[in-house]
Formats: sequence, structure tokens, C-alpha cells
Amino acid sequence: MAYGPAPENAADAMSFLDAHKRKFELFIGGKWQKPSSGEYYDSTNPSNKKNLAKISEANTADVDKAVAAANKALPKWVEIGAHSRARYLYALARQVQKNARLFTVLESLDNGKPIRETRDIDIPLVARHFYHHAGWAQIRDTDPELREYKELGVVGQIIPWNFPLLMLSWKIAPALAMGNTVVLKPAEDTSLTALLFADICQQIGLPDGVVNIITGHGSTGAALVEHKDVQKIAFTGSTNVGKIIRRATAGTGKKISLELGGKSPFIVFEDADLDSVVEGIVNAIWFNQGQVCCAGSRLLVQESIAEKLYSKIRARMENMRMGNALDKCIDIGAIVSPGQLKIIEDLVKTGVEEGGSLWQPTSWDCPTEGCFYPPTLFTDIAPSATLAQEEIFGPVLVAMSFRTHQEAVKLANNTRYGLASSIWTENINLALDIAPKIKAGVVWTNCTNVFDAAAGFGGYRESGFGREGGKEGLFEYIKPRIEELFSDKPFTKAVSTTKKTTDSDSNIPTIDRTAKMYYGGKQARPDGGYSTKINSSSGDYIGEVSTGNRKDIRNAVEAAHKGKGWAGKTGHARAQVLYYIAENLIQRKEEFANRICLMTNQNKTSALQEVEQSVDRIYTYAALADKYDGRVHHTVTSNVTIAMPEPIGVMGIVCPDESPLLGFISTVIPAISMGNNVIVVPSQTAPFSATDFYQILETSDVPAGVVNIITGGKDELAQVLAKHDDVDGLWYFGSQQGSEAIERLSADNMKRTWVNYGKYRNWSDKAQGEGEGFLRRASQIKNIWIPYGV
Ligand code: NAI
Ligand code: MG
Repeated sequence: MAYGPAPENAADAMSFLDAHKRKFELFIGGKWQKPSSGEYYDSTNPSNKKNLAKISEANTADVDKAVAAANKALPKWVEIGAHSRARYLYALARQVQKNARLFTVLESLDNGKPIRETRDIDIPLVARHFYHHAGWAQIRDTDPELREYKELGVVGQIIPWNFPLLMLSWKIAPALAMGNTVVLKPAEDTSLTALLFADICQQIGLPDGVVNIITGHGSTGAALVEHKDVQKIAFTGSTNVGKIIRRATAGTGKKISLELGGKSPFIVFEDADLDSVVEGIVNAIWFNQGQVCCAGSRLLVQESIAEKLYSKIRARMENMRMGNALDKCIDIGAIVSPGQLKIIEDLVKTGVEEGGSLWQPTSWDCPTEGCFYPPTLFTDIAPSATLAQEEIFGPVLVAMSFRTHQEAVKLANNTRYGLASSIWTENINLALDIAPKIKAGVVWTNCTNVFDAAAGFGGYRESGFGREGGKEGLFEYIKPRIEELFSDKPFTKAVSTTKKTTDSDSNIPTIDRTAKMYYGGKQARPDGGYSTKINSSSGDYIGEVSTGNRKDIRNAVEAAHKGKGWAGKTGHARAQVLYYIAENLIQRKEEFANRICLMTNQNKTSALQEVEQSVDRIYTYAALADKYDGRVHHTVTSNVTIAMPEPIGVMGIVCPDESPLLGFISTVIPAISMGNNVIVVPSQTAPFSATDFYQILETSDVPAGVVNIITGGKDELAQVLAKHDDVDGLWYFGSQQGSEAIERLSADNMKRTWVNYGKYRNWSDKAQGEGEGFLRRASQIKNIWIPYGV
């Protein structure tokens, strides 16, 4: 049976464009303002390549104006309080709903996405996002956790063209709910619905300057990123630009969240319901023409059913309908732009050249007048092939087969990305066995591309960091109030100023051997064979430590990767080990206190106090190891969505120089309590508390490779860790320049970093030195979607 086209009426959308004379200005301070450059560019309809309207190109002067407007609006926006902000967010949700049809048509016109998808998925999710965050806005000051946090200020937001209005809502709703003001730059190819949203902001009477929309290309985005009065950048887009943003903001203290590319695995086991699988695949890779960051673009299928599944997919592809985005009968619309079409064509060409088998439907042809690309299936692809590794961002599915479950996991994780994944099997045991093994921020079981405002979304590895949606997403837009207590100078304890010539008077044992380093559960000599003399704070020589170098760090990272199993232990099991560490430390309290006295010239009482506080802190993290839970999100679909905190993986920990023992404990223990394996660079000036700690580790059942300690030049070693591609996260407590270097150098593999920008915290104050904030930095949340109540 053939269907004729059923086009949606575009008259209202055209009237909206006409009302703006088909020439849009910038929305700054609640008013439409001409761009300083006087330049405009075309926004076109990819279904027919016709121009829709002219859009302003904002330059640095316009970015300045927009940021100034947001800054001006900020104090009042904070002051009006949680409930007023909730009212505005609710009004935005209502107004989006009232204008749903207009938004839907405009979005499909501008982007080329099938109107069925825009109508049923994009726009309802936009409204849902504003409703959900109206709720967070309301309870922001009473929620026991959120009220301990403060808004950031002016937030710069840069979004892509694949879900233009949806990405706008993901950005603006949480930012406003937490009390920030916003400057948002939509993608150059798809600005129209953001400009309509500006109208909506006016209609509901949102205070001027709370939301500013500036249009333009990458250079406009770059100016926003570099603006000194912007406190945070939230970005969704390509991994390349994400890395540019990481480097450009390094050391500035700007908070960033990056939602980048993916090459997400779609894993089909032999017992899966293949008809559901085929529909899942349609949703995974042909939804939005495959221009989806979390598209299931790598089909991994168990060998026994591979051919059968491929032929079902091919049959389904023959039945797909492609055409003008406004046609309600189509499954596949247009690619967003000629540029994106070329990217897809070039990658497909490479795939064929590398020996992949390409298959496209033979019973129908693409329309000729717009930017169209047919659904495509590649088989015979090697895991290392370009098509298996590079994000295509088009309707191209790349299939590979596996034999064992183990091989499926290996293939799934054989990527630099880690955004999403989906698992298809009728066996829930198998699905839930595989889910924790996949390195991705989202795991869908027997479903795919399901989203909701209540669940966090975001990546592992080079898919970026930060979450959008769910309570976890709110933390991207707030900062701990306690940070106001941090200081430009270290919080040091009173010290004795008299120089000591011998230790005998205080009964402190001298350090007669060079302290070695420690990795893989063993003490190790430094690769370079050098050692460094360490003096006490009053200048007396007290001993030597090994001078670690690049090679030692590499060895330690390797040892950390070999230290398997710690992440897989239960929170209870890790807690047992931590209690054991605490117990062993108590037993050697005198010895550790003496060493602190020797290094820092503190009096014995204060050194004993540092040991006591360290033991107390270990107890805290032993307590939290099985209490820092995830959540079960109330998503609106027939799922339970389990948000699990998982370890980051292998982390570098560069300890503060002050508080030699407590600083070490306060950073290393939370990281390992969450299941990370760590490479620690201890205090450079007072390293012996850490080197003495080996014995504690050895006698406390800490598995080899979980804690590895490399002494030496702090910044030099920290930077080797920052550049190391097998290190997943890095904490650095040191100077401002050191912090800048860490953030800049860590961009290559998108490490999760946490640096102090040269600010000191008082480690002996519990509010500053311990708590769940540390655990949040030591973990990343995986959202696992499981069908429930269907
Ligand atoms: P892009 O990353 O260049 O664009 C995304 C946004 O960033 C746009 O608003 C753009 O104007 C802005 N931008 C570009 N350069 C910037 C800079 N230096 N500083 C600040 N902002 C900047 O992505 P593009 O070129 O549109 O697409 C290229 C590829 O990126 C696609 O083929 C796809 O693989 C990937 N991509 C991934 C997306 C995702 O959702 N993760 C979305 C869009 C693209
Ligand atoms: Mg367009």
C-alpha cells in the first residue's frame, strides 16, 4: 500500500518569521537589538534548501552587551527567591505547550527533522524539562543538600543543531532554576526556535536580561567562552570543540560541562526478541537521521543470529519513508546542512575504501531537491576501522558480531567515547550483568534513546563530563557555599621556630634511608636513581625521598590498571578495608605524630591531633562507602531509571603540601572509598607521612595497585599525570599556575579534573575537608534504564 504525502501546514510558522520581517536581531536585555557587526546570514530549510530568514552574527561587542545584561539582571533574579523563579519556569513550560504546534513546525522547517518526531518527542520533552525544573526551583532553598550551594552567576550556554529547542531547555531550565542568568548561543544552522523562545520569554514577562539569546557561528561561541564575566560554560557539540573549550577556560575557575560525541554500542544477544530489536535499531540510528550524540551507531550482535538480524534490518530499511520534514508520513527527514551531508558522504567513502560492505535500500530513492542521505548498513567492519571508531552523525549503522559475552563487553568499550549504550536480551540476569561493565553514562535495556528531565544524561571518557537532567544535573549550576571560606594562604598550625640540631631531644627517629616509592603493592626505586633532600619547615635536613619521573608515573599508572577488582567490591567490603587502615593508623599514632613534628615543627599535641583527625576522616569515608547511594529516578516512561555512582577509574591525586598526613588522607581515602585506583603525589615539602603509609597499606588488606605513591616534583609529576591517556581523573591541590596547567593538559582524553586554583582549605575543619562533595568528585553517575511496569 502506498501513502501520499501528508504535509503539515506551515502558515503560522511563516507568520512568525514575517512578524520579524524575516530578519532576526539579537535578544539582549529583554529587547531585540541589531548586531554590532551589521552582518546577517541565512537560515535555510534543509528539506528544500530554501532560505527561511536572516539571522544576526553576534561579535565580541554583542557578547559583551549580552553578558553585561545578564550580569545586571543577576542580583534581582537571586533576590526574588525560589518560589518566584519557580513561577517563571512554570510559565515558560505552559507557554511552550500553548505554542507547541508553532515550535514543532518551525523546528522541522529549520532542522529537517520529521515533524512526527518534533511533535511527539522534542517539544513535549521541552515542556517537561521546564515543568520538572520549576519543581527544582521551588525546593532549591529548602532541599537540605541544595541549600548548601550557591548560584554561579552568568552562565554561557552553547548548543548544537540536532535538537535545537530541546538542548535549549536542557541548558536554560536548570540554570534558571538554580538562580543563574543566561546567555545562550544556538547553533548557526538552527537558531529559529531559540528566537521564538525569546518571544516566549517576553510574553511571560521574564525579567529583562535573565535570558539572552545571541546568534552567530563558532567565533561567537568562542567569545562567550572567553568572556571574563561568564562563570560557567555549558556546551553540547563536537568533541573537538569540547577540547578547545576545556583548554580555553583552563585556570580561569569557570565551571564547565561538556556533552560531546559518541559511538554508542547497541548490543544484541542471541535470545533477544528480534522484532523489537529491529524497531529499536530504527529508533537508535534513524531517529533524527542518526544525528544524535547517543545514537546506537555500533550494532554488536551475537554471531549466531547476525545474518538473520541483518536481513530483517534490510527488509525494514526497504520500508522506510523519507521526505520533506513537514510530511507527517515520513520516518526519515533531511540532513541538517550540506556541510553535515558531506561529512557523512566522506566517512562512508572511507568505510568502503577500508573494505566495509555497504548496503542501502534498493526499492526507493532519496528525494533530490534537499539534503538527504539514505539509511545505510555497513557489515564486515573491523573493530579498529574508521567507521567503527569515528562518530558519523548520520543514518549509518555499522555492524559487528561477537561470540561470547566477554567479547561483547570488550567490543562495546573499544572506543574513546562513553555516552550511551543499549543492551537487548530477554534475560534480565544477563542485561544486569553487562550493564555495570559498559563504560557509558547511560545504559538502556531493551529500549534506546529514551530521555526524561528526571534522569541524568551525560558521558564517560571523551563523551565529556557533567550531567543534564535529574538532581545530578543541578550541581553543574551551583557551587558549595563553603568555598567562600577558602583562603589565599595555607591554614598552618603554630610551629616552633627554634632550630633543632638533633632529634634525640624529642625522641623522634631519624630517617636514615631514602624513602622509596610504592606501586603495584611493592616499594620501588626511582627510575632515574635520584633522590631529593627534604628539610623541615625550620630548614633542618631530615631525610631523602625518591625523585620520581615520567617513567615512574607510567609504571604506577600501569600498576593501577592491573589492580583489578577494587571497583567491583561492595561498599561494605571497601569499608572493612578502610576501618582496618584506621585501626592500623591508631596503633602507630605516636610514630606518625613524631614524623609530622619532624617535618612541620608542630608541637606534639597538634601533630597527635592531625593523626586523630585523619583516623576520624577515614571513619567518615568507611561510613559513607556503603551509604553514598544512587537514586531511582521517577522518569515518565515505563522504566525504572537507576542512577548509580560508579568510580571514575584510575585517578591521579596530587595532595596539598600542608597538613602532610591529613591532606593525604582527605584526598586519597574518598577516592578509594568509591572504588578508584589512585596514583598519589604526596606533599612535596613533607612527603614522609605518605611514604610511612606503605606499611599501613600493606597490613590493611589494600589490594596491590589500589594506592600507588610517587614522590618528587609535584607540578612536574602532576603534569605527566594530566597528559597520560590512561588516567581518567585528576585532583590537584597546589598553585594557581599548576591548576591552569592541569586543566589545559588534561583535555586530550577529557579527564575529570578537580583543582583548587591556588586556594587553600582548612583540612582540619570537617565542613571544608570532608564530605559528600569529595565523593561526588570521585564518582560519575550511570543511569540504567530498565523496563518496569509495562
Ligand atoms: P560544533 O561542535 O562545531 O558545533 C556545536 C556548537 O558549538 C555550535 O553552536 C557552534 O557554533 C559552536 N562552536 C563551534 N566552534 C566553537 C568554538 N570554538 N567555541 C565555542 N563554540 C563553538 O559541531 P558541528 O560543526 O556543527 O558538527 C560537527 C560534528 O560534531 C558532527 O558531525 C558531529 O559528529 C558532532 N556533533 C555532536 C553533537 C552532539 O550532540 N554531541 C551535536 C553536533 C555535532
Ligand atoms: Mg536551518
